[in-house]
Amino acid sequence: MSRIRSLRFSLVALAALTAFQAGAATLTRDNGAPVGDNQNSQTAGPNGPVLLQDVQLLQKLQRFDRERIPERVVHARGTGAYGVFVASKDISDLTRAKVFTPGEETPVFVRFSSVIHGNHSPETLRDPRGFGTKFYTREGNWDLVGNNLPVFFIRDAIKFPDMVHSLKPAPDTNIQDPNRFFDFFSHQPEATHMLTRVYSDYGTPTSYREMDGNSVHAYKFVNAKGEIHYVKFHWKSLQGQKTLTAAQAEAVQGKDFNHMTKDLIGAINKGDYPKWDLYIQVLKPEQLAKFDFDPLDATKIWPDVPEVKIGTMTLNKNPSNVFLETEQAALAPSNLVPGIEPSEDRLLQGRIFSYADTQFHRVGTNGLQLPINRPRTSVVNYNQDGSMNPGAKQGNVNYEPSERADLAADAAAKYSRLPLSGTTQQQRIARTQNFKQAGDFYRSLSAQEQANLVSNLAGDLGQVKDDGVKYTMLSYFYKADANYGRALAQAVKADPARAQALAAKLQD
Ligand code: HEM
Repeated sequence: MSRIRSLRFSLVALAALTAFQAGAATLTRDNGAPVGDNQNSQTAGPNGPVLLQDVQLLQKLQRFDRERIPERVVHARGTGAYGVFVASKDISDLTRAKVFTPGEETPVFVRFSSVIHGNHSPETLRDPRGFGTKFYTREGNWDLVGNNLPVFFIRDAIKFPDMVHSLKPAPDTNIQDPNRFFDFFSHQPEATHMLTRVYSDYGTPTSYREMDGNSVHAYKFVNAKGEIHYVKFHWKSLQGQKTLTAAQAEAVQGKDFNHMTKDLIGAINKGDYPKWDLYIQVLKPEQLAKFDFDPLDATKIWPDVPEVKIGTMTLNKNPSNVFLETEQAALAPSNLVPGIEPSEDRLLQGRIFSYADTQFHRVGTNGLQLPINRPRTSVVNYNQDGSMNPGAKQGNVNYEPSERADLAADAAAKYSRLPLSGTTQQQRIARTQNFKQAGDFYRSLSAQEQANLVSNLAGDLGQVKDDGVKYTMLSYFYKADANYGRALAQAVKADPARAQALAAKLQD
């Protein structure tokens, strides 16, 4: 394989060299016409102004002026790689998705990212890390767009824009400010679990290779009989999970702020291909009611539900053009295939809309026709036109039904059914349990890890000037675990007894 590749490379190199020796390929404008001079603008005589009729100059500047597309509104900083997912376990009793047929090899593209900080921001900064995988399956593309941490800050999509506004730099100063995001989070007790994880050293992974990935949400698996199971996905890094302390992250940043991208590209270039095993946790619909929290709440993990390995992913090829491949990649939780459906998780339901919507704006109406996004299956439907459409549509039937149409829906791919009761409503979920899992996570850490968490969190919480906001936040951490709350209160020079008194009024 590698000999074939190197032979192909030498042939390409030889062809390029021959072309160069024979006068090289001719540089053209975008209309294909040859460029006469790419070094000197056309001027009116030796001392006169530059002429508007120099179409090469105009086009070169016009194209340069338009090189950027909007950066992702979140997860702007990222790096991608290609690979393959090999399914290893027969789970046809759970899902009819063919991607899980044992032995099936599905090409994938993965984009890792940080969340809040902009494109080209230091990769050492504290943040959850995105772990999005596009599976080019033989039934269409399936995108599993997850994070390294297994839970999220909020549980309802309606809060997402406000949360992101509070975490992004302030509109009046362009500076990220803990006063703003803790003001927001003091109204979101359900964020206590995620904040505890993100301020632990898991918020600063050493590399993308050395972190896990999680679906965070439950999805629904639907089998050939139409039966439903709820599943959470977990990518376990075969490189192990490794993290940086705040001091280590600062030391790395002093030397290199692209360390995660460099690490991934470097490992793949030298043939040290990173791998992850994919695990699922499975619940039957009737089990959902048996937990003392809501298992479809994205702020929760499913403790004590066994994990089953269903396949392995290997990343083995770097993109050759970051813009064309990684930047234009459009991963979306709405890219689903038969047998995999969204659960009723209120956060996921909003994501089903938001990603494809932002991508129409960020990448373009026909962005899914780009090579990085195009399914390996053929796309046949009557969606049409729109800007930058490179399609090759033929014929005059562009509607359905029609006596002359040769397209039809496949009833086997119908969505599953969900029994419903009650009225429409706007109310929070019933089983919130905002603090318990934060405490469980805190207690699962070693003494050193707990100390790092408290110091990392105190670094930001200590900057909060509003006493009410600070003590509300302290009360949440106190409610999660009294030792945690006390240590944090001491670290920010606050009164632990006041935090304790406020925590006593909270209900889990
Ligand atoms: C309602 C909640 C959320 C909303 C509205 C939302 C919205 C968005 C938007 C608009 C983007 C940019 C997409 C693009 O331009 O291509 C994005 C990217 C991303 N989000 Fe979310 N998000 C939410 C929650 C989450 C959660 C819970 C996770 C993890 C489970 C997550 C993981 C990601 C990842 C990994 C990316 C980057 C995808 C890529 O690499 O292209 N998001 N999100």
